[in-house]
Amino acid sequence: MAQSKRAAWCRRLGPLLGVVALMVLGLLFLLLPDDRARVHFHPSSFNWSAVPQNYPVTSIAPLPTGRPLPMPRVQYEFPLGPRDQVARARQRKVRDVFRRCWKSYKRYAWGSDELTPVNAGWETAYGGWGATLVDALDTLWIMDLRDEFYDAAAFAARLDWAATRSGTDEGGGIDVFETTIRYLGGLLAAYDLSGEKALLRKASELGEMLYAAFDTPNRMPAAQLIFTAAINGTQRASALATASSATSLSLEFTRLAQLTGNAKFFDAVDRVALFLQATQNHTRLPGLWPRSIDFLNGNVTVDNAFTLGADCDSLYEYFPKMHVLLGGLDTKYERLYRTAMDAAKKYLFFRPMVPDDSGGKGVLFAGDAAVGPLQGSLGALFTNADSAADDEIQHLPHGQHLACFSGGMLGLGGKIFGIEDHVAMGDRVARGCAWAYASFPTGIMPESFVMTSCDKMDAPCPWNESRWESAFVNSDGWSSPIPRGFSAVDDPRYLLRPEAIESVFLLYRMTGKKDLQDLAWDMFQSIIRATETAYANSAIANVTVTGETVKTDVMESFWLAETLKYFYLIFSSPWLISLDDFVFNTEGHPFRRPK
Ligand SMILES: *[C@@H]1O[C@H](CO)[C@@H](O)[C@H](O)[C@H]1NC(C)=O
Ligand SMILES: *[C@@H]1O[C@H](CO)[C@@H](O)[C@H](O)[C@H]1NC(C)=O
Ligand SMILES: *[C@@H]1O[C@H](CO)[C@@H](O)[C@H](O)[C@H]1NC(C)=O
Ligand SMILES: *[C@@H]1O[C@H](CO)[C@@H](O)[C@H](O)[C@H]1NC(C)=O
Ligand SMILES: *[C@@H]1O[C@H](CO)[C@@H](O)[C@H](O)[C@H]1NC(C)=O
Ligand SMILES: *[C@@H]1O[C@H](CO)[C@@H](O)[C@H](O)[C@H]1NC(C)=O
Repeated sequence: MAQSKRAAWCRRLGPLLGVVALMVLGLLFLLLPDDRARVHFHPSSFNWSAVPQNYPVTSIAPLPTGRPLPMPRVQYEFPLGPRDQVARARQRKVRDVFRRCWKSYKRYAWGSDELTPVNAGWETAYGGWGATLVDALDTLWIMDLRDEFYDAAAFAARLDWAATRSGTDEGGGIDVFETTIRYLGGLLAAYDLSGEKALLRKASELGEMLYAAFDTPNRMPAAQLIFTAAINGTQRASALATASSATSLSLEFTRLAQLTGNAKFFDAVDRVALFLQATQNHTRLPGLWPRSIDFLNGNVTVDNAFTLGADCDSLYEYFPKMHVLLGGLDTKYERLYRTAMDAAKKYLFFRPMVPDDSGGKGVLFAGDAAVGPLQGSLGALFTNADSAADDEIQHLPHGQHLACFSGGMLGLGGKIFGIEDHVAMGDRVARGCAWAYASFPTGIMPESFVMTSCDKMDAPCPWNESRWESAFVNSDGWSSPIPRGFSAVDDPRYLLRPEAIESVFLLYRMTGKKDLQDLAWDMFQSIIRATETAYANSAIANVTVTGETVKTDVMESFWLAETLKYFYLIFSSPWLISLDDFVFNTEGHPFRRPK
């Protein structure tokens, strides 16, 4: 009897235990996602989303909806199979250099913007929130340095955006462009790769602060965000700012809108794109925008000099990238790109006369142009540039390290819009940069220089020694024999910049041409040889010297965010950060493409 009573009790207890067990499991399951988050968010001391706008918008442009359009492949169809040993060994060397720099940053400069790589100190350069740390997050992830990643991510998720001197009158304001590409871009990519929600929340918090820069009467963003001016309604768009400052916030704000579902971030940059569309054919060189723009009055004729280099670069870079990030659903960007590149092909790209170009296709560079007389340091490099007729278009074969990015831009534009000619041009631009590296005694391209231009891009251009000699410009940067092909070096520094390896890497992924890996390796070895310090790597004063280089004790955050990332990726499996899955912002941060 007792036996069977107990049995009945057990029979009843059985299912009950099952239910309890299920409930416990369910509870655990509910709690697990939180447990899996290894990074914890800590809010800033000031809440920007609680600040009302002084000049609110009356309508918000929604993100384009619908299924992303089918897009042509960007990457070359690499054969399956293991990588060769050479690439693996090179990749390890790149990672070793990164780890050495990271170790020094951690030890001597943790949480500051930059390590000073000669004296092992630290520097505030971009708001003081730890630019190098945030900029390097995704590289840590990509290089599989996960413990380091989580240490840095924990720090980043606790940043207080209000704790800075930059946002004050005396601090001169927060540089909206630099903060967007480095910090916002860095956090968004780190989230896209790791899925750590705290990083997205921190990005969103920063986005709310940067959104305040758009709170002006004409909704064009201020180049510098001063907190009090933004809050008290006196903030205005800049009357004279670099062309790229307000115009290349688009990729970061669009990714933020996509990830948070808050369309106001997209709306903010869409208004700038509409401004670009309205002005593109009304500059002094229709199709292109000048180095400076008056965003306050919407005046695009305040400047007469044009370039793909400093002050303009990412304005153009972001056209094909926006098309990709928006899944091809916003047609503005293709037209902006095509119109700009038609003009750039006519006025900016040039083929230099070089000695070893024996009937080959010839390398290309992105130069500058001016309409009418050109004053200033650029004008001084060219004979009679300041006395040109008012509407004369001057072609200026002035090369810049920054303009090397244009190889990758042409490659991407060519692939996604089906313009084969652009891919071929991009390849020639990337090779031009690698060639310029190899031309100098240190194996590194200077910051800027002048060349002698051939008449046509696609006609043979035989070397003419006396023409080269007569083109020599005695600029400040140069007083000793100059490599053949160059006629002046107006800025002989190398600042650890990424643009050349960026294009070589992107063209490698797009064309599969293996010799680009060898060019990259030569560039890498030269850079390490010329920039290595006792702690890390430093910008150098002069790439034209034959002996020891002068280290200027600066290591900008893009060294770890971009330069070493691209060197690492060109020797990695081609499917690591595939260009068909990701699109890079102008600071080398990969954003996930819509599928
Ligand atoms: C910031 O303000 C917004 C709007 O008032 C509010 O929804 C949000 O919860 C606040 N965030 C924090 C962390 O206080
Ligand atoms: C608004 O803020 C700016 C920047 O700090 C300051 O110069 C200005 O005097 C302030 N104006 C008013 C009306 O409060
Ligand atoms: C600007 O001009 C080009 C070339 O004439 C044309 O293709 C393009 O559509 C124009 N852009 C706009 C926005 O009108
Ligand atoms: C734009 O600026 C230029 C140069 O300062 C000036 O000559 C021109 O009148 C301005 N255009 C407009 C529409 O304000
Ligand atoms: C080489 O350049 C010089 C100086 O510009 C010119 O006079 C000469 O005709 C050129 N020679 C050839 C073969 O084109
Ligand atoms: C760079 O080095 C070259 C070669 O030694 C020298 O002629 C030139 O004056 C240097 N330029 C600067 C700006 O130091």
